[in-house]
Amino acid sequence: MFPDRILSGMRPTGKLHLGHYHGVLKNWVRLQRDYPCLFMVADLHALTTSYDDVSVIERSVWDMLVDWLAAGVDPEQAIIFIQSQVPEHAELHLLLSMVTPLSWLERVPTYKDQIEKLSHKDLGTYGFLGYPVLMTSDILLYRGNLVPVGEDQVPHVEITREIARRFNHLFGKEPNYQELAEAAIKKMPGKTGKQYAQLRTRYQQEGDAEALLAARALLAEVQNLSAADRERLFGYLEGGGKMILPESKPLLTEASRMPGLDGAKMSKSYGNTISLREDSESVTKKIRQMPTDPARVRRTDPGNPEKCPVWKLHEVYSDQPTRDWVVQGCTSAGIGCIECKQPVIEGVLAEQKPMFERAQRYLEDPALLRRIVDNGCERARALAADTMRDVRQAMGLNYK
Ligand code: TRP
Ligand code: SF4
Repeated sequence: MFPDRILSGMRPTGKLHLGHYHGVLKNWVRLQRDYPCLFMVADLHALTTSYDDVSVIERSVWDMLVDWLAAGVDPEQAIIFIQSQVPEHAELHLLLSMVTPLSWLERVPTYKDQIEKLSHKDLGTYGFLGYPVLMTSDILLYRGNLVPVGEDQVPHVEITREIARRFNHLFGKEPNYQELAEAAIKKMPGKTGKQYAQLRTRYQQEGDAEALLAARALLAEVQNLSAADRERLFGYLEGGGKMILPESKPLLTEASRMPGLDGAKMSKSYGNTISLREDSESVTKKIRQMPTDPARVRRTDPGNPEKCPVWKLHEVYSDQPTRDWVVQGCTSAGIGCIECKQPVIEGVLAEQKPMFERAQRYLEDPALLRRIVDNGCERARALAADTMRDVRQAMGLNYK
């Protein structure tokens, strides 16, 4: 009923690293070609955990936006915007909070996890408990039905679906639904209204599935119905109400676990990252200093790539002939580790090169970046306003 639309977001946590690129951004760049996409800087989500130090958020927002554009997120194809600049997120969050059972929020797995993990912070706040409601609002505000996320965020997309269902169930039936539907039938041209009513009766009383299909086809063809009336009549056929908010589903990013410098998953908290726009000297130095197979103490000792963090990077960056060269050279002590690392260094630098080039424009002309984001926020607000009109009306808050 609603067209496919993608919404995803990222909390501004500072400069991004290659783990973000391989895990998330590469996927966004692919998706933006195939779907209408909105990519959002989740600065309000950052506030739920960093409310005690807001100074870092703004800087991080701009750094992250440059990194997005550097990675190839394209403002010509996708809408790029900042959550807090579209106040409807806060409004929808408040309205959805009215119908979200506390127990749903308390049982979200990340809730207790995060409180324990970030024990140096006081996360016993109303805002932090509401994190999933805020995320639900982000998604439903644009009627996003597809949400590309990592495994850890799947429970949040599930709660989004549950809240949408509950909302539709509670508010999808307009109070005078039946009258409105009957009035819409009268507006149908010629005999079509009468045909619709007969088909509906046949379906509802006799369960005649063909009648349902015929009625749907009829509705799709009729010319002079308003969009709202048409939707009402589609719902009226099956006895249901209106679907105001869609049921979203996660688009799981294929688990591309980008290995870090120590072989563990690349993550800021492990201190094993290479940033997206790290300068080449630093990249070279970091890779040269990477640990290798601990059994390979001397140059003459053969090694085992399976026990070496450098090998994991070859799996990301090297072609088959290079990999064969590594396995052969390592296990026979034919190559040294510094030699083995060279193609990885080159692979990373080659990947970064176009990113530096794309970033350069925005670093030289910060006003350009601002214009792109202003434009994105404006387009996001227009879409948000549409949804909020329906939501307010459904909840009886439309005093017109
Ligand atoms: N919570 C997400 C994260 O930490 C970020 C986010 C906020 C998000 N709103 C969203 C992701 C909406 C997808 C859709 O990664
Ligand atoms: Fe690792 Fe390469 Fe050294 Fe083997 S040769 S231990 S794969 S860095």
